[in-house]
Amino acid sequence: MYLRQSSRSMMKILIVNLLLLGIVHSKKNILFLVSDDMRPNIGAYNGPDEPSPVHPPMHTPNIDALAARSLLLKRAYVSVALCSPSRTALLTSRRPETTHIWTIGPYFRQYGGNVTTLPEYFKQNGYRTIGMGKIFHPGSSSGIDDPVSWTDPYTHAVDDYLGNDILIEPVSEERAKARPLQDQLLAEYAIQALKEVAPKAKSGEQPFFLAVGFRKPHVTWNFPARFMDYYPLESLRLPPNYYAPVGMPAIAWHDFINLTRYKDMEPYHLSPNVGGINYTFPKTITLQMRQAYYSCISYIDYELGRVIDELDNLGLTNDTIISFWGDHGWQLGEHAEWQKMTNFEDAVHAPMMIHVPGVTDHGVVTEKLTEFVDLYPTLVEAAGLPKLQQCPPDSQNVSLCTEGTSMVPLMTNPTLDSWKTATFSQYARIGNGINGDSVIGFSMRTEMYRYTEWINCKGMPSYEPMWEQLQGVELYDHTKDPEENWNRADDPAYKDVKVELSRNLQLGWRGALPNIRV
Ligand SMILES: *[C@@H]1O[C@H](CO)[C@@H](O)[C@H](O)[C@H]1NC(C)=O
Ligand SMILES: *[C@@H]1O[C@H](CO)[C@@H](O)[C@H](O)[C@H]1NC(C)=O
Ligand SMILES: *[C@@H]1O[C@H](CO)[C@@H](O)[C@H](O)[C@H]1NC(C)=O
Ligand SMILES: *[C@@H]1O[C@H](CO)[C@@H](O)[C@H](O)[C@H]1NC(C)=O
Ligand SMILES: *[C@@H]1O[C@H](CO)[C@@H](O)[C@H](O)[C@H]1NC(C)=O
Repeated sequence: MYLRQSSRSMMKILIVNLLLLGIVHSKKNILFLVSDDMRPNIGAYNGPDEPSPVHPPMHTPNIDALAARSLLLKRAYVSVALCSPSRTALLTSRRPETTHIWTIGPYFRQYGGNVTTLPEYFKQNGYRTIGMGKIFHPGSSSGIDDPVSWTDPYTHAVDDYLGNDILIEPVSEERAKARPLQDQLLAEYAIQALKEVAPKAKSGEQPFFLAVGFRKPHVTWNFPARFMDYYPLESLRLPPNYYAPVGMPAIAWHDFINLTRYKDMEPYHLSPNVGGINYTFPKTITLQMRQAYYSCISYIDYELGRVIDELDNLGLTNDTIISFWGDHGWQLGEHAEWQKMTNFEDAVHAPMMIHVPGVTDHGVVTEKLTEFVDLYPTLVEAAGLPKLQQCPPDSQNVSLCTEGTSMVPLMTNPTLDSWKTATFSQYARIGNGINGDSVIGFSMRTEMYRYTEWINCKGMPSYEPMWEQLQGVELYDHTKDPEENWNRADDPAYKDVKVELSRNLQLGWRGALPNIRV
């Protein structure tokens, strides 16, 4: 007994000395996994809080296994249900009012300030930062892959299928072997990159931040056909709410004309109602679309699993933090809606999980309201980098700060009382306002409600909201209506609730913070 204890403390002293000598590394690596347009239709998310009971059992063994050793954020919300603004908010930990990014196209460094991004911060702290696939939105939105963020040249996986304008395209094994699909290539590139960074990461010479951005289940849906076997058509069901909410203001609606333009969807573009509220695809096509979407999720689960396995093979698992998120939700026919680009729960609720070795190994599930801007300060704290300060109200010229809250306290106390009371999302309908102004739907999710005000906003690029120029209000009572089918904004029974929600919405995220550290 005595002997064992003393040899243990000897060991501790030895390790501390090795750390001081820089022989044993102290910095954790980061494996930063992303998926495009993936709503939380994942096995690990099953439960009474998943509003739509009509999905098939999902085949997602790898993501489920990651969730089982992670902090699983069951209720994480994006800032905007659109790729570039959502990713920009997550990667800068600043919201659209600050980044001034609501659309695809503008480069965030030229609008909301040339600020330090998440990978850039790790780079500044000595990490080798490698990006591949879709991390920032590609093209002009990221000034072509934001070179400032990475130590290495950026890598894209380019496949032969990119130009195909067919929406649903299962690919046979033989064809995929001859012409690999984009995410199959990407997983290969990620595995190669891990092999390359492993020696220095293990010796403690240089930790890595490897970001791998998968493209599915974003359209177009080309995927290895075998994944359809998990979702036979006859086992699938239509959304329970195949119609727009009762009393929904028209401005809340997104027309999905883009989806009707694919060759295989052309027959459904002929309806005189296309783009109109309550127009949607015929039921048989809806089932096929759901099948393709689920299949793509299982396909990504498989490719992501290969990357995580390689981390294991290389003996890096105990020294690597893994995060996984999908950049926003996706409407699969609910509300007769498709794609994202709304403020409905299905569009702004997205998957997020964080594995921190030695901390979340047994799995921690939290139902607390969390936001995508929270990930940056969380990874920084979990990796032991100098913590971020909360951003001042005008932070354009502050290169390093956060508008989120570190979620590390939830890893040890997932039911923490002192936590934020609401999450904030928004969606801009450009040019749809008074005299060609834009309308932004400012949306807030509290424990019980989703509350949204669509406001006329003047002036590019700051879009100052004119709160009195209201273009539509939505109030959904999640205690009675988790699918958001019934807008109660004009219901006299909700008059007082609405006044309070409106006040809190205008106070914004700072008003919803508890009195805790950032
Ligand atoms: C942002 O700052 C970096 C230096 O940190 C500089 O290299 C880069 O050109 C700047 N980008 C823009 C768009 O101003
Ligand atoms: C859409 O359909 C639902 C259900 O039939 C109906 O309550 C709603 O008013 C419709 N919306 C519009 C704008 O037609
Ligand atoms: C749909 O929109 C995307 C951009 O989000 C574009 O790349 C694609 O070409 C469009 N598809 C069609 C068929 O118009
Ligand atoms: C990794 O950590 C686990 C749990 O702490 C431990 O059981 C295992 O031996 C470790 N593996 C290595 C390779 O150090
Ligand atoms: C930020 O810096 C720019 C350029 O120096 C300046 O014009 C602007 O007023 C500054 N903004 C704030 C909020 O300090």
